[in-house]
Amino acid sequence: MKILVVGSGGREHALAWRLAASGHAVVAAPGNPGMEAVASCRPVKVMDLDGQVKLAVEEGVELVVVGPEAPLCAGLADRLRAAGVPTFGPGEAGARLEGSKAFSKALFARHGIRTAAFEVCATVEEADRAIDALAAQAVPAGSGVVVKADGLAAGKGVVVADDVAEAKTAARAMLDGRFGDAGARLVIEQRISGREVSVLALTDGERLEVLAPAEDHKTLLDGDRGPNTGGMGTVSPAWIDDATLARVRAEVLEPTVRGLAAEGIDYRGVLYAGLMIDASGAPWLLEYNCRFGDPETQPVMARLRGDLGAVLHGAATGALAQGALAWDPRAAVCVVVAAAGYPEAPRTGDVIGGLDAASDLTDVVVFHAGTARQGGAIVSAGGRVLGVTALGDDVEAARAQAYAAVDRIELAGKQLRRDIGARGKR
Ligand code: GLY
Repeated sequence: MKILVVGSGGREHALAWRLAASGHAVVAAPGNPGMEAVASCRPVKVMDLDGQVKLAVEEGVELVVVGPEAPLCAGLADRLRAAGVPTFGPGEAGARLEGSKAFSKALFARHGIRTAAFEVCATVEEADRAIDALAAQAVPAGSGVVVKADGLAAGKGVVVADDVAEAKTAARAMLDGRFGDAGARLVIEQRISGREVSVLALTDGERLEVLAPAEDHKTLLDGDRGPNTGGMGTVSPAWIDDATLARVRAEVLEPTVRGLAAEGIDYRGVLYAGLMIDASGAPWLLEYNCRFGDPETQPVMARLRGDLGAVLHGAATGALAQGALAWDPRAAVCVVVAAAGYPEAPRTGDVIGGLDAASDLTDVVVFHAGTARQGGAIVSAGGRVLGVTALGDDVEAARAQAYAAVDRIELAGKQLRRDIGARGKR
């Protein structure tokens, strides 16, 4: 099959790599230098919706896989389908699961999905009242409040506040335009205690295929310290056991698919559930993303066996094959190499060395995330630069191999965590 992958990050590199490994001809737009080894890259920007549709039609692709959330929220999948191109990714209506936190929280509530108590606010007065009320009801007392911008804020629109004052400051900043229109409305919710996990499922709007869970490491520094980032590394399998995963499926994913269908939303794409599992093992849905996770996709693709292209085509055309994917029993760890200055002000244009030396190691793939060609060199071109991913017989072995590869990468001022995958099981 000829498949167009829309996007240019580590997630898209991992998808293109896996699709090419199953024998598909991959076109990527715009792609990145790392993807050139597995795909034919075309210079069409992610948000050039006309250009993406034109490319898909001209290339005669049989499937488009849309990587990032922004074009999904802008309706790229609807436009591709209208042009007759099977597309893996929800339309604009379904993408509101990620594009509007107020929409998604209300949907969870309507369909009985366990989620933190919340209020939607549009003014400082409403926000102050909601923060006081939610903090007063918090169990255990003083456990805090979470403030979220309603719209897309490039992964930065969530503040997990330790106290009422911090929550109110965050709400004011968002309502004052820190994230533009995305912060015109806020979702304020109680903070849930537990341990996080990312569970991604493919759906054709009716059936579900749950992928191997992964655990992200969201903050910049070891020990879960420092500012939040887009994700500094991932491990798969994650710490949750099969019984908990079965609960996630039955109590979160299945009601979502039924709820979306009941509301007339034909959702064909990824349901990426960001979950908190509490001490009793109950899953709380923190949020949905409407696309593959980044960097969750990197270790998940490293472990995936079977023809991903055929399965995504099935989901795109309303005929998702269940049980067609299998998982390498080994563990995979992805360590993100980030640029100096990330996340606030990433420095770009630094030459990256050691890419071949890192990739030469057994069971290592270096996925490019923020890279570009400059003359004969590959240089950094974004905050998260590479996702160095390795398989190993267990998490410890995968960690050792990933860090051996990372140590071969030369990038001035590179930042990375040394504890990806080190949390162990609960
Ligand atoms: N891993 C975080 C995200 O994909 O949004």
